Amino acid sequence: MPALTLDPLFADDDRRKILRSTDFTGQDILSVSQFDRDGLEYVFIRAHEMREMVDRIGYSNLLKGHILTCLFYEPSTRTSASFIAAMERLGGSVIPITQGVQFSSVSKGETLADTIRTLEQYSDAIVLRHPEIGSARIAADYSSVPVINAGDGAGEHPTQALLDLFTIQQELGRIDGLKIAMVGDLRFGRTVHSLTRLLTQYDVSLRFVSPEILRLPLVLMNEVKDAGLNVRETHDVADVIQNADVLYVTRVQKERFSDLAQYEEVRGHYEITAELMQHAKERMVIMHPLPRVGEIHYSVDADPRAAYFRQVRNGMFIRMALLAMVLGKA
Ligand code: NCD
Repeated sequence: MPALTLDPLFADDDRRKILRSTDFTGQDILSVSQFDRDGLEYVFIRAHEMREMVDRIGYSNLLKGHILTCLFYEPSTRTSASFIAAMERLGGSVIPITQGVQFSSVSKGETLADTIRTLEQYSDAIVLRHPEIGSARIAADYSSVPVINAGDGAGEHPTQALLDLFTIQQELGRIDGLKIAMVGDLRFGRTVHSLTRLLTQYDVSLRFVSPEILRLPLVLMNEVKDAGLNVRETHDVADVIQNADVLYVTRVQKERFSDLAQYEEVRGHYEITAELMQHAKERMVIMHPLPRVGEIHYSVDADPRAAYFRQVRNGMFIRMALLAMVLGKA
Protein backbone atom coordinates (compact mmCIF):
# COMPACT_ATOMS: atom_id res chain seq x y z
CA MET A 1 0.00 0.00 0.00
CA PRO A 2 1.30 3.50 -0.73
CA ALA A 3 2.15 5.79 2.16
CA LEU A 4 -0.96 7.38 3.53
CA THR A 5 -1.27 11.09 2.91
CA LEU A 6 -3.79 13.16 4.78
CA ASP A 7 -2.95 16.45 3.17
CA PRO A 8 -6.29 18.11 2.46
CA LEU A 9 -7.26 18.43 6.09
CA PHE A 10 -3.85 19.50 7.19
CA ALA A 11 -3.85 22.64 5.10
CA ASP A 12 -2.45 25.66 6.86
CA ASP A 13 -5.65 27.65 6.67
CA ASP A 14 -7.32 25.16 9.03
CA ARG A 15 -4.81 26.04 11.68
CA ARG A 16 -5.41 29.73 11.28
CA LYS A 17 -9.14 29.29 11.72
CA ILE A 18 -9.00 28.23 15.35
CA LEU A 19 -12.45 28.51 16.86
CA ARG A 20 -12.35 30.81 19.84
CA SER A 21 -14.74 30.23 22.70
CA THR A 22 -17.35 32.62 21.43
CA ASP A 23 -17.30 32.57 17.64
CA PHE A 24 -18.70 29.21 16.60
CA THR A 25 -21.72 30.76 14.91
CA GLY A 26 -21.82 29.93 11.22
CA GLN A 27 -18.55 27.98 11.38
CA ASP A 28 -17.81 24.73 9.58
CA ILE A 29 -16.39 21.94 11.71
CA LEU A 30 -13.91 20.13 9.49
CA SER A 31 -10.93 19.23 11.64
CA VAL A 32 -10.03 19.14 15.30
CA SER A 33 -7.20 21.56 14.44
CA GLN A 34 -9.85 24.27 14.63
CA PHE A 35 -10.21 23.87 18.39
CA ASP A 36 -7.91 25.30 21.01
CA ARG A 37 -8.15 24.33 24.68
CA ASP A 38 -10.52 27.18 25.50
CA GLY A 39 -12.75 26.10 22.64
CA LEU A 40 -12.71 22.51 23.85
CA GLU A 41 -13.55 23.55 27.38
CA TYR A 42 -16.45 25.59 26.02
CA VAL A 43 -17.82 22.64 24.00
CA PHE A 44 -17.60 20.40 27.08
CA ILE A 45 -19.43 22.89 29.29
CA ARG A 46 -22.22 23.17 26.71
CA ALA A 47 -22.36 19.36 26.34
CA HIS A 48 -22.61 19.00 30.09
CA GLU A 49 -25.55 21.42 30.14
CA MET A 50 -27.20 19.39 27.38
CA ARG A 51 -26.84 16.25 29.48
CA GLU A 52 -28.47 17.93 32.47
CA MET A 53 -31.29 19.21 30.33
CA VAL A 54 -31.92 15.79 28.74
CA ASP A 55 -31.76 14.02 32.10
CA ARG A 56 -34.22 16.49 33.61
CA ILE A 57 -36.74 17.17 30.83
CA GLY A 58 -35.60 15.35 27.70
CA TYR A 59 -35.87 18.12 25.13
CA SER A 60 -35.91 21.87 24.53
CA ASN A 61 -36.98 24.27 21.81
CA LEU A 62 -33.56 25.85 21.36
CA LEU A 63 -33.32 24.93 17.68
CA LYS A 64 -37.03 25.04 16.84
CA GLY A 65 -37.50 26.04 13.22
CA HIS A 66 -33.99 24.96 12.22
CA ILE A 67 -33.35 22.19 9.71
CA LEU A 68 -30.29 19.96 9.54
CA THR A 69 -29.39 17.78 6.56
CA CYS A 70 -27.58 14.53 7.32
CA LEU A 71 -25.87 13.44 4.11
CA PHE A 72 -24.10 10.10 4.49
CA TYR A 73 -22.22 8.48 1.60
CA GLU A 74 -20.88 5.78 3.94
CA PRO A 75 -22.62 3.49 6.44
CA SER A 76 -23.33 4.87 9.90
CA THR A 77 -25.36 3.96 12.96
CA ARG A 78 -24.16 6.12 15.85
CA THR A 79 -22.99 9.26 14.09
CA SER A 80 -26.13 9.68 12.00
CA ALA A 81 -28.55 8.60 14.74
CA SER A 82 -26.93 10.85 17.33
CA PHE A 83 -27.00 13.90 15.07
CA ILE A 84 -30.68 13.22 14.37
CA ALA A 85 -31.42 12.69 18.07
CA ALA A 86 -29.42 15.81 18.95
CA MET A 87 -31.32 17.99 16.48
CA GLU A 88 -34.72 16.61 17.49
CA ARG A 89 -34.07 16.90 21.23
CA LEU A 90 -33.37 20.57 20.61
CA GLY A 91 -36.65 21.02 18.76
CA GLY A 92 -35.18 21.13 15.25
CA SER A 93 -35.82 18.83 12.32
CA VAL A 94 -33.72 16.74 10.00
CA ILE A 95 -33.53 15.87 6.32
CA PRO A 96 -32.07 12.38 6.63
CA ILE A 97 -30.12 11.17 3.60
CA THR A 98 -28.56 8.39 5.60
CA GLN A 99 -30.17 5.27 4.24
CA GLY A 100 -27.81 5.04 1.32
CA VAL A 101 -27.30 7.81 -1.18
CA GLN A 102 -28.37 5.27 -3.82
CA PHE A 103 -31.87 6.63 -3.24
CA SER A 104 -30.78 10.21 -3.93
CA SER A 105 -29.66 11.82 -7.19
CA VAL A 106 -26.09 10.85 -6.35
CA SER A 107 -26.96 7.53 -8.00
CA LYS A 108 -27.79 9.49 -11.17
CA GLY A 109 -24.25 10.85 -11.19
CA GLU A 110 -24.74 14.16 -9.38
CA THR A 111 -21.50 15.65 -8.06
CA LEU A 112 -20.89 16.38 -4.38
CA ALA A 113 -20.75 20.09 -5.22
CA ASP A 114 -24.20 20.10 -6.83
CA THR A 115 -25.70 17.94 -4.08
CA ILE A 116 -24.37 20.37 -1.46
CA ARG A 117 -25.52 23.44 -3.42
CA THR A 118 -28.99 21.91 -3.52
CA LEU A 119 -29.23 20.83 0.12
CA GLU A 120 -28.00 24.18 1.44
CA GLN A 121 -31.14 25.71 -0.07
CA TYR A 122 -33.27 23.76 2.38
CA SER A 123 -31.19 23.56 5.51
CA ASP A 124 -29.37 25.58 8.15
CA ALA A 125 -26.48 23.13 8.47
CA ILE A 126 -25.20 20.00 6.74
CA VAL A 127 -23.55 16.97 8.33
CA LEU A 128 -21.49 15.08 5.76
CA ARG A 129 -19.87 11.65 5.77
CA HIS A 130 -17.99 10.78 2.61
CA PRO A 131 -15.31 8.22 1.64
CA GLU A 132 -12.75 10.74 0.34
CA ILE A 133 -10.21 12.58 2.46
CA GLY A 134 -10.84 16.30 2.10
CA SER A 135 -14.47 15.93 0.95
CA ALA A 136 -15.84 17.93 3.89
CA ARG A 137 -13.53 20.82 3.05
CA ILE A 138 -14.74 20.75 -0.59
CA ALA A 139 -18.37 20.68 0.56
CA ALA A 140 -17.71 23.61 2.88
CA ASP A 141 -16.26 25.59 -0.01
CA TYR A 142 -19.54 25.20 -1.86
CA SER A 143 -21.88 25.65 1.07
CA SER A 144 -23.07 28.89 2.59
CA VAL A 145 -24.39 27.02 5.66
CA PRO A 146 -22.09 25.29 8.17
CA VAL A 147 -20.74 21.89 7.12
CA ILE A 148 -19.87 19.41 9.87
CA ASN A 149 -17.44 16.65 8.95
CA ALA A 150 -18.85 13.31 10.13
CA GLY A 151 -15.91 11.39 8.70
CA ASP A 152 -14.01 12.00 5.45
CA GLY A 153 -12.58 8.64 4.46
CA ALA A 154 -9.40 7.87 6.37
CA GLY A 155 -8.99 11.59 7.18
CA GLU A 156 -10.69 12.99 10.26
CA HIS A 157 -13.79 12.52 12.39
CA PRO A 158 -13.72 15.62 14.58
CA THR A 159 -17.08 15.25 16.36
CA GLN A 160 -16.15 11.69 17.38
CA ALA A 161 -12.84 12.91 18.81
CA LEU A 162 -14.64 15.62 20.77
CA LEU A 163 -16.99 13.05 22.28
CA ASP A 164 -14.05 10.74 22.98
CA LEU A 165 -12.18 13.46 24.83
CA PHE A 166 -15.35 14.48 26.67
CA THR A 167 -15.79 10.85 27.72
CA ILE A 168 -12.24 10.65 29.07
CA GLN A 169 -12.84 13.80 31.09
CA GLN A 170 -16.21 12.58 32.38
CA GLU A 171 -14.90 9.14 33.29
CA LEU A 172 -11.54 10.04 34.82
CA GLY A 173 -12.08 13.66 35.81
CA ARG A 174 -9.06 14.97 33.90
CA ILE A 175 -7.04 14.62 30.72
CA ASP A 176 -3.63 16.05 31.65
CA GLY A 177 -1.33 13.47 33.18
CA LEU A 178 -3.07 10.42 31.68
CA LYS A 179 -1.48 7.50 29.84
CA ILE A 180 -3.54 6.81 26.75
CA ALA A 181 -3.07 3.72 24.58
CA MET A 182 -4.64 3.46 21.13
CA VAL A 183 -5.02 -0.03 19.75
CA GLY A 184 -5.82 -1.37 16.29
CA ASP A 185 -6.01 0.39 12.94
CA LEU A 186 -4.07 3.57 13.57
CA ARG A 187 -3.35 4.04 9.90
CA PHE A 188 -6.84 4.26 8.48
CA GLY A 189 -8.83 4.95 11.65
CA ARG A 190 -10.03 8.52 11.31
CA THR A 191 -11.20 8.62 14.93
CA VAL A 192 -7.64 7.83 16.01
CA HIS A 193 -6.29 10.60 13.78
CA SER A 194 -8.61 13.23 15.21
CA LEU A 195 -8.25 12.12 18.82
CA THR A 196 -4.45 11.97 18.57
CA ARG A 197 -4.34 15.46 17.17
CA LEU A 198 -6.62 16.78 19.92
CA LEU A 199 -4.45 15.16 22.57
CA THR A 200 -1.36 17.04 21.38
CA GLN A 201 -2.88 19.99 23.23
CA TYR A 202 -2.67 18.12 26.54
CA ASP A 203 0.10 16.78 28.74
CA VAL A 204 -0.48 13.08 28.10
CA SER A 205 1.65 9.99 27.37
CA LEU A 206 0.63 8.17 24.20
CA ARG A 207 1.13 4.51 23.35
CA PHE A 208 0.29 3.32 19.85
CA VAL A 209 -0.40 -0.40 19.49
CA SER A 210 -0.85 -1.75 15.97
CA PRO A 211 0.35 -4.32 13.47
CA GLU A 212 3.28 -2.99 11.42
CA ILE A 213 1.19 -2.11 8.34
CA LEU A 214 -1.38 -0.21 10.41
CA ARG A 215 0.97 2.17 12.23
CA LEU A 216 0.00 5.77 12.79
CA PRO A 217 0.69 7.97 9.70
CA LEU A 218 4.05 9.71 9.90
CA VAL A 219 2.53 13.16 9.62
CA LEU A 220 0.60 12.56 12.83
CA MET A 221 3.51 10.94 14.62
CA ASN A 222 5.56 14.05 13.82
CA GLU A 223 2.85 16.27 15.29
CA VAL A 224 2.87 14.22 18.48
CA LYS A 225 6.65 14.47 18.70
CA ASP A 226 6.66 18.20 17.89
CA ALA A 227 4.21 18.67 20.77
CA GLY A 228 6.83 17.10 23.03
CA LEU A 229 4.63 14.24 24.23
CA ASN A 230 6.03 11.04 25.66
CA VAL A 231 5.20 8.50 22.92
CA ARG A 232 6.01 4.89 22.10
CA GLU A 233 4.86 2.37 19.49
CA THR A 234 4.45 -1.35 20.00
CA HIS A 235 2.75 -4.35 18.39
CA ASP A 236 1.63 -5.86 21.67
CA VAL A 237 -1.25 -4.86 23.98
CA ALA A 238 0.53 -6.68 26.83
CA ASP A 239 3.14 -3.89 26.75
CA VAL A 240 0.58 -1.22 27.65
CA ILE A 241 -2.24 -2.88 29.56
CA GLN A 242 -0.80 -2.44 33.06
CA ASN A 243 -0.15 1.28 32.88
CA ALA A 244 -2.92 2.58 30.62
CA ASP A 245 -5.52 4.96 32.05
CA VAL A 246 -7.38 4.81 28.74
CA LEU A 247 -7.39 1.89 26.31
CA TYR A 248 -8.88 3.21 23.05
CA VAL A 249 -9.61 0.18 20.87
CA THR A 250 -10.49 0.38 17.16
CA ARG A 251 -11.71 -1.79 14.32
CA VAL A 252 -9.50 -2.62 11.34
CA GLN A 253 -11.01 -0.48 8.58
CA LYS A 254 -11.71 -3.18 6.02
CA GLU A 255 -13.23 -0.73 3.54
CA ARG A 256 -9.92 1.15 3.17
CA PHE A 257 -7.92 -1.86 1.96
CA SER A 258 -7.36 -2.22 -1.77
CA ASP A 259 -5.94 -5.72 -1.14
CA LEU A 260 -8.32 -7.81 0.96
CA ALA A 261 -5.63 -10.46 1.49
CA GLN A 262 -3.76 -7.83 3.49
CA TYR A 263 -6.88 -7.16 5.55
CA GLU A 264 -7.17 -10.86 6.31
CA GLU A 265 -3.59 -10.82 7.61
CA VAL A 266 -4.31 -8.18 10.24
CA ARG A 267 -7.95 -8.75 11.16
CA GLY A 268 -8.49 -10.36 14.52
CA HIS A 269 -4.99 -9.31 15.60
CA TYR A 270 -6.22 -7.91 18.91
CA GLU A 271 -8.95 -9.04 21.24
CA ILE A 272 -9.46 -7.43 24.64
CA THR A 273 -10.77 -10.13 26.98
CA ALA A 274 -11.92 -10.22 30.60
CA GLU A 275 -8.74 -12.16 31.34
CA LEU A 276 -6.53 -9.45 29.85
CA MET A 277 -8.46 -6.85 31.85
CA GLN A 278 -7.26 -8.48 35.06
CA HIS A 279 -3.88 -6.92 34.32
CA ALA A 280 -5.31 -3.41 33.87
CA LYS A 281 -5.53 -0.72 36.54
CA GLU A 282 -8.60 -0.69 38.73
CA ARG A 283 -9.34 2.88 37.73
CA MET A 284 -9.09 3.10 33.95
CA VAL A 285 -11.46 3.03 30.97
CA ILE A 286 -11.80 0.98 27.81
CA MET A 287 -13.24 2.95 24.94
CA HIS A 288 -14.16 2.11 21.34
CA PRO A 289 -15.78 4.36 18.71
CA LEU A 290 -17.77 1.27 17.60
CA PRO A 291 -18.77 -0.75 15.67
CA ARG A 292 -16.66 -3.53 17.18
CA VAL A 293 -16.05 -6.61 15.10
CA GLY A 294 -14.29 -8.81 17.61
CA GLU A 295 -11.76 -6.42 19.18
CA ILE A 296 -13.47 -6.42 22.58
CA HIS A 297 -14.94 -9.66 23.85
CA TYR A 298 -18.53 -9.45 25.09
CA SER A 299 -17.39 -10.70 28.49
CA VAL A 300 -15.76 -7.29 29.02
CA ASP A 301 -19.09 -5.44 28.74
CA ALA A 302 -20.04 -6.06 32.38
CA ASP A 303 -16.74 -4.57 33.56
CA PRO A 304 -17.41 -1.10 35.03
CA ARG A 305 -14.31 0.10 33.18
CA ALA A 306 -16.02 -0.62 29.83
CA ALA A 307 -17.10 2.89 28.82
CA TYR A 308 -18.07 2.39 25.18
CA PHE A 309 -21.82 2.62 25.56
CA ARG A 310 -21.54 5.62 27.89
CA GLN A 311 -19.28 7.04 25.17
CA VAL A 312 -22.12 6.54 22.66
CA ARG A 313 -24.51 8.58 24.82
CA ASN A 314 -21.94 11.34 25.26
CA GLY A 315 -21.93 11.64 21.47
CA MET A 316 -25.46 12.94 21.52
CA PHE A 317 -24.64 15.62 24.10
CA ILE A 318 -21.54 16.76 22.22
CA ARG A 319 -23.50 16.97 18.96
CA MET A 320 -26.31 18.88 20.67
CA ALA A 321 -23.70 21.35 21.90
CA LEU A 322 -22.03 21.67 18.50
CA LEU A 323 -25.31 22.17 16.64
CA ALA A 324 -26.40 24.86 19.08
CA MET A 325 -23.04 26.53 18.73
CA VAL A 326 -22.79 26.61 14.93
CA LEU A 327 -26.43 27.73 14.70
CA GLY A 328 -25.70 30.64 17.05
CA LYS A 329 -27.81 29.43 19.96
CA ALA A 330 -25.19 28.50 22.54
C1 NCD B 1 -16.13 5.14 13.35
C2 NCD B 1 -16.06 5.73 11.96
O1 NCD B 1 -17.05 5.75 11.22
O2 NCD B 1 -14.98 6.22 11.66
N1 NCD B 1 -17.45 4.93 13.77
C3 NCD B 1 -18.15 5.96 14.36
O3 NCD B 1 -18.34 7.00 13.78
N2 NCD B 1 -18.55 5.79 15.62
C4 NCD B 1 -15.24 3.97 13.55
C5 NCD B 1 -15.35 2.80 12.62
O4 NCD B 1 -16.15 2.76 11.70
O5 NCD B 1 -14.59 1.85 12.86
